Amino acid sequence: MRTQVGIVGAGPAGLMLSHLLHLEGIDSVILENRSRDYIESRIRAGLIEQWANDLLIDTGVGARMQREGMFHNGVYFGFGRALHYLNFRDLIGKGVTIYGQQEIVKDLIHRRLSDSGQILFEAADVSVHDLAGNPSIRFRHDGKEGEVVCDFIGGCDGFHGICRPSIPAAVLTAYDREYPFGWVGILSESPPPEHELIYAYHERGFALYTMRSSTLARLYLQCAPDDEIENWPDARIWEELHARLDGTRALAEGMMLQRGITAMRSFVVEPMQYGRLFLAGDSAHIQPPTGAKGMNLALADVKVLSRALVAFYRSGRSDLLEQYSATCLRRVWKAQRFSWWMTQLFHLDPSHNSFDRKRQMAELDYVTSSEAAMRSVAENYVGLPVEG
Ligand code: FAD
Ligand code: DHB
Repeated sequence: MRTQVGIVGAGPAGLMLSHLLHLEGIDSVILENRSRDYIESRIRAGLIEQWANDLLIDTGVGARMQREGMFHNGVYFGFGRALHYLNFRDLIGKGVTIYGQQEIVKDLIHRRLSDSGQILFEAADVSVHDLAGNPSIRFRHDGKEGEVVCDFIGGCDGFHGICRPSIPAAVLTAYDREYPFGWVGILSESPPPEHELIYAYHERGFALYTMRSSTLARLYLQCAPDDEIENWPDARIWEELHARLDGTRALAEGMMLQRGITAMRSFVVEPMQYGRLFLAGDSAHIQPPTGAKGMNLALADVKVLSRALVAFYRSGRSDLLEQYSATCLRRVWKAQRFSWWMTQLFHLDPSHNSFDRKRQMAELDYVTSSEAAMRSVAENYVGLPVEG
């Protein structure tokens, strides 16, 4: 099989890359090792930055999000038994949208298939070859060996994928940080405590109260990094969620539809390209979820990559492709910085002492009372501009 761009992974990065290329008349094939059903029901991110919301709408895949998503003007920071509202719309004229990542994945798959796009689900033993020469992707599908020969490869296969490890190790530098906590996350059939998000700082640990609809709450609690979900029976989860909301709002309990533990890590690999392989999204960088940046960064990377590929095919320019990694990394590092900052601001760190907790309270007080500080939070939270 021959195509212009071979893509490994049908997450937000791979699907959006294929969609953006198609709109510009560039062919691609996606190899995904999971089933369609599996990736359409995998619950992950839920918060979409303003520019990413606009991208989905402008490229014709935002209609269901516009109908079913929830547009938010700001967020609440809870501490000291009170909620403090940051109104992004008043501060900088932008907001964010709540719409599940798996819904974006469904919308993109539906659109790719309606546009006769090729996605091979359940492709096994996917491997990438001759990255600095004539690249190809080999795999097994329906019990048969297959090969996609292409001009370029999009490495969109997430943090545990095969693309990043296929780059010679000597070429890459990894920047890594682990955090001494994780998150318990649940989806509950109950209304969220507020119609917008609450990030809560509490002496028992951080909690986040978000949602998927007005009747479906998505709730997270700081836990130990090596914690197991078996340690969190329903009663304990509800007790902590009530305690960390600290009487600021009433919390209705509901049936738990899903539960899981998320690890916290910051990781960036540089450069994000090697030869004709371009890494995008979680395959190149991950961050703690506190800043809600992962899916948004994946979309930003492929926006930059698609523009560089369009310039190559339209006018033979390779300068944008050469600059791909540097262009993405400037924004990636700012998102890393913001995710780290939100994480250290809200979590109880076992290495902290009473000085650190006073400092955190002072910073929370500052970022919810100084207009300059609130504007800075707002512009990072709703998403910095995507270059290129
Ligand atoms: P992925 O979504 O991981 O997609 C990679 C795809 O490649 C997958 O479909 C995988 O099956 C496939 N694949 C892997 N290996 C292979 C292989 N060898 N061959 C073929 N295919 C392969 N981000 C936010 O922006 N906001 C949030 O609110 C947020 N909350 C989160 C909450 C949780 C609980 C978690 C786990 C993550 C959250 N994130 C959030 C992060 C976000 O989900 C990821 O950053 C996002 O999925 C990255 O998209 P991606 O396309 O790069 O990678
Ligand atoms: C959601 C998750 C996050 O990590 C975050 O910071 C905001 C929202 C969510 O799942 O809705």
